Amino acid sequence: MRLIGEPPPAPGPAGAAVRGYAAERDHTRIPLVYAAAFGEPPWPDDWDRFAAFDPRGVFVAEERAAGEAVGFVTSFGRGDFGYVGVLAVVPGWRRRGVARALLRTAVVYLRSLGPDAVEVDAFVDARPAVVLYRACGFEVIRTYADPEAGSDAAAAAPSSVRAAPDGAQGG
Ligand SMILES: CC(C)(COP(=O)(O)OP(=O)(O)OC[C@H]1O[C@@H](n2cnc3c(N)ncnc32)[C@H](O)[C@@H]1OP(=O)(O)O)[C@@H](O)C(=O)NCCC(=O)NCCS
Repeated sequence: MRLIGEPPPAPGPAGAAVRGYAAERDHTRIPLVYAAAFGEPPWPDDWDRFAAFDPRGVFVAEERAAGEAVGFVTSFGRGDFGYVGVLAVVPGWRRRGVARALLRTAVVYLRSLGPDAVEVDAFVDARPAVVLYRACGFEVIRTYADPEAGSDAAAAAPSSVRAAPDGAQGG
């Protein structure tokens, strides 16, 4: 999916704030937010290396009262290409505008590097994510079959289809 131009305003959630990534505070917390958001094991040990790819493009939503991380987004820009990677919010903080605020912060960062267009991948059946990206101005530019799915499964399962930037590979 692709957003061209300014992202829409995102006032941010009451009781939480978005800030830049602080490795010493966040490097053990992000993998746990990831696990809570996706219902998977914590992000593997390579998180620090992943974050080091562009730490300025990682933003964390933190609840003000207890200082707990409740969401994060990763992004990076190269040349005229801006890309949002992982966006995650823990279940207890959903539908309060946390993701909207994180996404806007990432897009503003990417646009500050030069790109006018920002892209993101989303599984077509990941309805909350797709609705979120649309609500934030992103449009589907391509859908394609997951190369890891069999052709029968690809035909039968919408989860094997996703939106992706031009020329991107599935994954
Ligand atoms: C997708 C996700 C990041 C949304 O986080 P969130 O903080 O709840 O999203 P927001 O509160 O900012 O929602 C903004 C808009 O997105 C849409 N949206 C978000 N969650 C939705 C849901 N469950 N169903 C329908 N629309 C939804 C709505 O349009 C919403 O605006 P509204 O609340 O005014 O109607 C969160 O559900 C999540 O972490 N999911 C698992 C991980 C994931 O799929 N990440 C994205 C792909 S990497």
